Amino acid sequence: MFAPDFCTIMKVAKTLADFESARKSLGDKKVGFVPTMGALHEGHASLIRRAVAECDAVVVSDFVNPTQFNNKTDFETYPRILDQDCAFVEALGAAILFAPRVEDIYPAGTDYNKKVFDLGGLDLYGEGPRRPGHFNGMAQVVTRLFDIVRPDRAYFGEKDFQQLAIIEYFVKNLHYPIEIVRCPIARAEDGLALSSRNKLLTPARRAAAPHIYASIMKTRDMVGKMPVSEAIRKTVELIDAQPELKTEYVEIINSLNLRPVSDWNEAEHLRLTCAVYAGDVRLIDNIELK
Ligand code: PAF
Repeated sequence: MFAPDFCTIMKVAKTLADFESARKSLGDKKVGFVPTMGALHEGHASLIRRAVAECDAVVVSDFVNPTQFNNKTDFETYPRILDQDCAFVEALGAAILFAPRVEDIYPAGTDYNKKVFDLGGLDLYGEGPRRPGHFNGMAQVVTRLFDIVRPDRAYFGEKDFQQLAIIEYFVKNLHYPIEIVRCPIARAEDGLALSSRNKLLTPARRAAAPHIYASIMKTRDMVGKMPVSEAIRKTVELIDAQPELKTEYVEIINSLNLRPVSDWNEAEHLRLTCAVYAGDVRLIDNIELK
């Protein structure tokens, strides 16, 4: 079980060398890992709490990975609040916060930022075509972090549903001895899926954003009662009825292979996924339909 002495002596490693010496001190403890891009919120807290409860020691990484951003402005404006993140992670009982520099993850002269991954075709839908290179960049950093951190378990939230499916795929395909733990979406009381990007919303857009979840929950009542295409059209209409919101896409997908379906009976398990702009902030969400 988790050793309480780590709560008060959380190590903050800002370089690879610092991390390696901190990692050594964990010996053969069962290590849980929560990779993040920082700007931590209650959604991350739920992952860290679960990791702390289930592992002997927990490593949290805090690294805004340049290779997974297909939009330069999105990368530049991504919130960065490392000092607050440190206090947040320490209070939750993690053993190490790893906040590396870009040169630690992608050292000059190495090809870590050029590797091309087999993503099993799971990147062909949803976010994949809309954010070219995003999932390959995500795989670059996640595999690099796995190799450095060497965890027994890694915890990911279902808010990034497609990311999670892709990680499970490459972990199996590349034979990583790591258990991937799926964690449910954490939501604010008003239903908005928690995300670091919510920090970028103006008060008016923050007030409008819960309308995304309220709208997609209504799609549940449409299942089997009208064609899939009609349900998608109505859902977009519901979301866009709120003037601060503009839907980029709503898809109804087979939860296992992530392919969009055109008939409710095409798959046993269906999920609705969507991306919606609140002004210039792009928010994603998803719910289980059946
Ligand atoms: O989900 C995220 O925050 C990021 O994609 C991850 C997994 C930390 C990789 O940068």
